[in-house]
Amino acid sequence: MSPIKEVIINKNTDKNPIWIMRQAGRYLPEFREIRKRNTDFIKLCLNSNLSSEITLQPLKRFELDAAIIFSDILMIPYGLNQKVEFKKNFGPLLGELVIDKISKLTENDFIENVKPVYEAINLVQNNVLTKNKSTIGFVGAPWTLLVYMINKHSPKKNLINDFFKDESLINNTLKILEKFTKIHIKNQIDNGAEIIQIFDSWAGLLKEKDFPKFIYDPTLPLVEFTKSLNTPVICFPKGIKDYKNYCDIIQPSAICIDYEIDPIQISKDIKIPIQGGMDPKVLLTDIDNLKKQTKKYLDIFKDHPYIFNLGHGILPETDPKIMEYLVKMVKDY
Ligand code: CP3
Repeated sequence: MSPIKEVIINKNTDKNPIWIMRQAGRYLPEFREIRKRNTDFIKLCLNSNLSSEITLQPLKRFELDAAIIFSDILMIPYGLNQKVEFKKNFGPLLGELVIDKISKLTENDFIENVKPVYEAINLVQNNVLTKNKSTIGFVGAPWTLLVYMINKHSPKKNLINDFFKDESLINNTLKILEKFTKIHIKNQIDNGAEIIQIFDSWAGLLKEKDFPKFIYDPTLPLVEFTKSLNTPVICFPKGIKDYKNYCDIIQPSAICIDYEIDPIQISKDIKIPIQGGMDPKVLLTDIDNLKKQTKKYLDIFKDHPYIFNLGHGILPETDPKIMEYLVKMVKDY
């Protein structure tokens, strides 16, 4: 069994498997080289030869235990025929959300739109570089996708003023997202993803009273569905503070924590396997601080099933040499 599955399924505590969120892309010169020649990000995600190559780039350099497929959470709105663009120095920009149009979309239409993602997973899973490693598929949680689909760009700190105005639009979109997210999860698994991570990057924008409607109710069916396919599911509800309550309700196979959470408290509160935590900014400081912080997480989770990762994606300005050092440190611990 691959080391990450050993942790999640067998609750192994002797090894320290490691992968890093957003490990493919951003900070790697070999990615930037490909990206320069491929200015349309969505098209790049839909080029299965290139996207599988990008997925494998970090595995060629570092002793990582997983490949996370080079794609994006916004491939779901794209697959639903909402316009999605990525603008330089701005991020994602989505087009109008026309509910009548996306309500009519069939499973086949959707799969036709995003099929190369599944082909890329197949290529990655069958490559020697992923032998005894985990191929990780992923989706955005319905709340985070709703944020992009209605807000149309990253909200940074605030949603647009009338975000919650059209309740029927919100409810219908959440229903459609549940259906197609399940389809996307199943097709990733059928093509070789052995773990699914659910990213709820904007969970922290909600007030606790809104968690049931926007986080718990839409996420629970996805977690249960993934588990029913005999596949572990890691949830990352970034910024929510009350991870314990989330785990009690959602019961993911493992929980990924962000860098604002106190790791000592969480190691006491939560019994299920834990992933992540360390602030990605630590990789922008010096080796001594990196050593100290990395050791801190490894010490705290010494007797807990733990997968080393960061508390959010690796930053674009990270030096690949530091990443190499980090991976080696975790492996040698
Ligand atoms: O982890 C990986 O290396 C695999 C690929 C991956 C990407 N996006 C590639 C990408 C994954 C897992 C994602 C998830 C994703 N996408 C999330 C959840 C994780 C998180 O960071 O909170 C979110 C919120 C998005 C939406 C998104 N996509 C944004 C806000 C942006 C622009 C800013 C940024 O993060 O770079 C993207 C674009 C994107 N997705 C890039 C990459 C490599 C950069 C594209 C470019 O080169 O311009």
